[in-house]
Amino acid sequence: MKAIIPVAGVGTRMRPHTFSQPKVLLNVAGKPIIGHIMDKLITAGIDEAIVIVGYLGYMVEDWLVKNYSIKFTFVSQDDRLGLAHAIWMCKPYVSKDEPLFIILGDTIFDVDLDPVIKSAYSSLGIKDVEDPRRFGVAVTDGEKILKLVEKPDTLVSKHAIVGLYFLKQAGRLFDCIDHLIDHDIKTKGEFQLTDALQLMIESGERFTTFPVSGWYDCGKPETLLSTNEILLEKKSATLKSYTGCMINHPVFIADSAVLQNSIIGPNTTIGEHAVITNTVITNSIIGNYARVSQIMLNQSIVGNNTTVSGSPKQINIGDYSEIRLG
Ligand code: UTP
Repeated sequence: MKAIIPVAGVGTRMRPHTFSQPKVLLNVAGKPIIGHIMDKLITAGIDEAIVIVGYLGYMVEDWLVKNYSIKFTFVSQDDRLGLAHAIWMCKPYVSKDEPLFIILGDTIFDVDLDPVIKSAYSSLGIKDVEDPRRFGVAVTDGEKILKLVEKPDTLVSKHAIVGLYFLKQAGRLFDCIDHLIDHDIKTKGEFQLTDALQLMIESGERFTTFPVSGWYDCGKPETLLSTNEILLEKKSATLKSYTGCMINHPVFIADSAVLQNSIIGPNTTIGEHAVITNTVITNSIIGNYARVSQIMLNQSIVGNNTTVSGSPKQINIGDYSEIRLG
């Protein structure tokens, strides 16, 4: 079965890191965000991915092709007109009657997709949240979806739509997106996938929901760090020993990283070829080839090829930076 993965966004909320690399290639728990997603999809039996690329898309293409051997089709979305528009660009690569799975490129999930892709009906992944105002929500009768509401002002439902979509027949979705585009129907200035799905419901398509308890957002620095923590807890690895170092699990430390006289962890990822000396790092992500010394860091993200030394305690700096304080 095919999966569509839209990753054309610029990732403004993850700046400065997304100035030099696409959001989906940011490292979380030892692997790019999209690597976690691909692993889950392949386990679920997805054998072809249509990836919608845009901003820094060539970097995503290179990484995927180097790391996975399934069939990829890359579709370029030059005008970022919204998620429905992004999906619509894939129309030539999907036949009308085939089922389709769509997953947002910045959503790491932990759910068994097997029953979902065998389901008799189209289905949307949901998670109950206390404050659904910043999500699209699904109003249900307990079995099927009655309607979808984008960013509701009143509490019409707690079922937030989390970015995993299973369509029984792709053609029906494309027909509804055609309608949005032909009639220039936009919400908040974009062609919205939620609007297209709502049209499907109105034209009689039956949708069910499936619960996604493990749903880890990577869209902003705070959520990237909390996702790093959760994923590390699930798979902390046994490590070699490092001279004069104390390692507090859970951590991910790349084999090629060099650590000396430092305290690392908990909840910390150290990238490839990073060099860490005389440093205490907790709850943080340190990029590839970063050089960090003489410092205490907590809740920090340090980009690739970056040098940090001195006295800051919490930072969020992008690739190729150099900070020497204290
Ligand atoms: P977001 O709304 O999170 O956008 O899109 P973004 O650009 O990644 O991040 P911010 O808001 O600027 O910080 C959710 C997913 O849909 C894709 C994005 O790449 C992301 O994976 N998307 C969104 C597209 O591919 N094309 C679009 O037109 C819109």
